[in-house]
This record gives sequence, C-alpha cells and structure tokens, in this order.
Amino acid sequence: MSVEHLVEVRDLQVTHGDRRIASIPELTLAAAECVGIVGESGSGKTTSLLALLGLLGRDFHVSGAARVCGVDVIGADEREVAAVRGSRIALVMQNPQGSLNPTMRLGTLMKRALAQHGVKGPAARNRIAEALSSVGLPEGVARRYPHQVSGGQAQRFGIAIAVALGAEVIAADEPTSALDVTVQAGVVHVLQRLRAERGMGLLLVSHDLALVSTVADRVLVMRHGEVVESGTARSVLAAPAHDYTRELLAAVPTLGAAG
Ligand SMILES: Nc1ncnc2c1ncn2[C@@H]1O[C@H](COP(=O)(O)OP(=O)(O)OP(=O)(O)O)[C@@H](O)[C@H]1O
Ligand SMILES: [Mg+2]
Repeated sequence: MSVEHLVEVRDLQVTHGDRRIASIPELTLAAAECVGIVGESGSGKTTSLLALLGLLGRDFHVSGAARVCGVDVIGADEREVAAVRGSRIALVMQNPQGSLNPTMRLGTLMKRALAQHGVKGPAARNRIAEALSSVGLPEGVARRYPHQVSGGQAQRFGIAIAVALGAEVIAADEPTSALDVTVQAGVVHVLQRLRAERGMGLLLVSHDLALVSTVADRVLVMRHGEVVESGTARSVLAAPAHDYTRELLAAVPTLGAAG
C-alpha cells in the first residue's frame, strides 16, 4: 500500500453474525480528494465509515485491510485506533446537535476533545480560535451550549473539532441532510474550503446525488452491502453502467434528465 493515500482500503468485509453488512473491494482517498458513497438505505454506507473509525461494536466482525494516514485500523490495538480517531480521521454526523453533549458549552467540549489528544493550555486556546475561524464561526460561540446554536452552526462546530484536532480526513455521514437548503450550502462551502486550503480528504456519504455530483471526485455506489459501481463522479453519474445507479439517478429529476 502506498503512503500518499490518506485512506486505503482493500477487501474490507463487515459481517454481523452470518450476515454480510458491507463489502468494499477497494477504496482510496488522496489529499484534497472527495469520494462520495451513495446507495439506498441499509446498503452499508454508515457501517463502512464506522469500520474505518474503529467504531463498530464487538458484535461486528471486520476483516481485510484499511489504512488511515498510514495506520492499519483493522485488527489494531484499540488504543492505536483511538489515537487515529479524531486526530487523523474525524466523523461528522447527520444530526449535529445530537452528537454534542448538551450539558457542556461548546468551548468546553472542544477543550476536552483536545485534552484527550494531549493539547492543553494556550496551545489549545490558539487551536480553538483558529479552528472556529476556519469554519466561519465567531469565537463567542464557544460560550454557548449546543441548544443555543443553529443546526448549521452546530455542524460547523463539529467540523471545527476535526480541524482543531488536525484531522486529515473527514468522514461525513449525511452532513447536510438535517439542514435547511440555504444552510447546507454554507456547510458544503466549509468542507470544500478545508479540502482546498488544508488538503483535507473527504469521505462523503449522502443520499443527495446532486450534492455528491458537485462535490465528489469519485463515487462508490453501494447496494445490499456491495459496491455495485465505482469510478469518477462524472462517469458514474453522467453515464452509469449499472441499472441500480440508473434507478438512483432517475429518482433525481435534474440529474436523471441529464443522464
Ligand atoms: N448494530 C447493528 N446490529 C445489527 N445490524 C445492523 C446494526 N447496524 C446496522 N445494521 C444493519 O446493517 C445494514 C447496513 O446499515 P447501515 O446503517 O450501514 O446502512 P446505510 O447505508 O448507512 O443506511 P442509511 O442510508 O439508512 O443510513 C442494515 O441492514 C442494518 O440493518
Ligand atoms: Mg447511514
């Protein structure tokens, strides 16, 4: 496996009992790149991301090879994977407010996250200020509780934690689907800027094919836990080879008409 890829997956298999939940023969993500993962509900998209972050419970069995920033995250020691999580790869979820502890101010939440990775004191304060500004949030937001910010601000804050921890990859699971359309654009803009300015890699799981077609360089199409098609976003979404991808696209009027 080469070192230039932020994420490199080969023959990833996730099973739960006898059931195969997700199978990814190959996935790579380079710096500044975005790989979109699309597919119907239950096709194994979230499970695949969680496997990369070492966040699947013990009742799942994960095999194959997956490297995140050079660290083998499958079968590795939990402490090793925990060190990668957050500081190299961060998860951004659909429901931003729900993923933040409601009893703590945002600044405290971020300080805790940094302290877990050994960053404290003035260094932590500088990183927090810089991270908030990188996602377009005012510093004052640190004094607020999660319920005192909007969904879009909470999502930006989740991304700011990843920036503060120095994450090189963001695994975003439906990052905009709980947000209003105008707010969605702001969050997407932040993600795009982080790719361009910091070379962050983005794994983008979304049902929003219009979003994936504008943001992703490459796309994986999943169905029933399998990758049925993959390739450049342009080729897969403009000229899908698989019937299932055609069906997905047909459900989106503007993209369906274009294809
Ligand atoms: N904790 C669990 N225990 C057992 N089965 C699970 C568990 N979590 C997920 N699954 C199953 O794994 C399959 C894949 O689920 P996953 O959440 O990865 O799908 P998804 O593609 O993210 O779907 P959605 O688009 O609805 O978010 C589903 O059949 C689901 O029922
Ligand atoms: Mg999911």
